[in-house]
Amino acid sequence: MAEDLKITKGTKEEQYQNLIPQIKGLLEGENDTIANLANITAALKEQFNWLWVGFYLVKNDELVLGPFQGPVACTRIKKGRGVCGAAWLQAQTLIVPDVEKFPGHIACSSLSKSEIVVPFFNNQVVTAILDVDSIHLNDFDDIDAKYLEVIVSLITAI
Ligand code: SME
Repeated sequence: MAEDLKITKGTKEEQYQNLIPQIKGLLEGENDTIANLANITAALKEQFNWLWVGFYLVKNDELVLGPFQGPVACTRIKKGRGVCGAAWLQAQTLIVPDVEKFPGHIACSSLSKSEIVVPFFNNQVVTAILDVDSIHLNDFDDIDAKYLEVIVSLITAI
């Protein structure tokens, strides 16, 4: 049984550095992917209180909504569509400081102002993406990219 998450204050980097060992602890000894993705989203939401944190999983050449925390969201995204589909197609992390300036952005919530999407790789193939939305413009930077990539890499397989 997992302990309560210890929420920390401090710089964003310090917050990630305190959170990552706790996420490792949550994943330890559990090999169910959905359970692990669910706990990662909950831990990130609790620590950072972003608008939306969740995974989309590649299924039959589409992204399909997986475990998430936040408002209801669109269930399917095609390759290349929106920020999520673009990150999948380009197989790289995308930081969008202002979603209204991203051509083709899919607005699941009108409250979302900025976004970061981090792909998960299985044998160099993207099999899922982590999507995070913020109510603030320009809320994500290279620090988020670095640490969210670390967190996504803790997942063993999708
Ligand atoms: N905004 C995303 C869609 C997913 S939601 O934000 C949860 C996109 O443009 O791909």
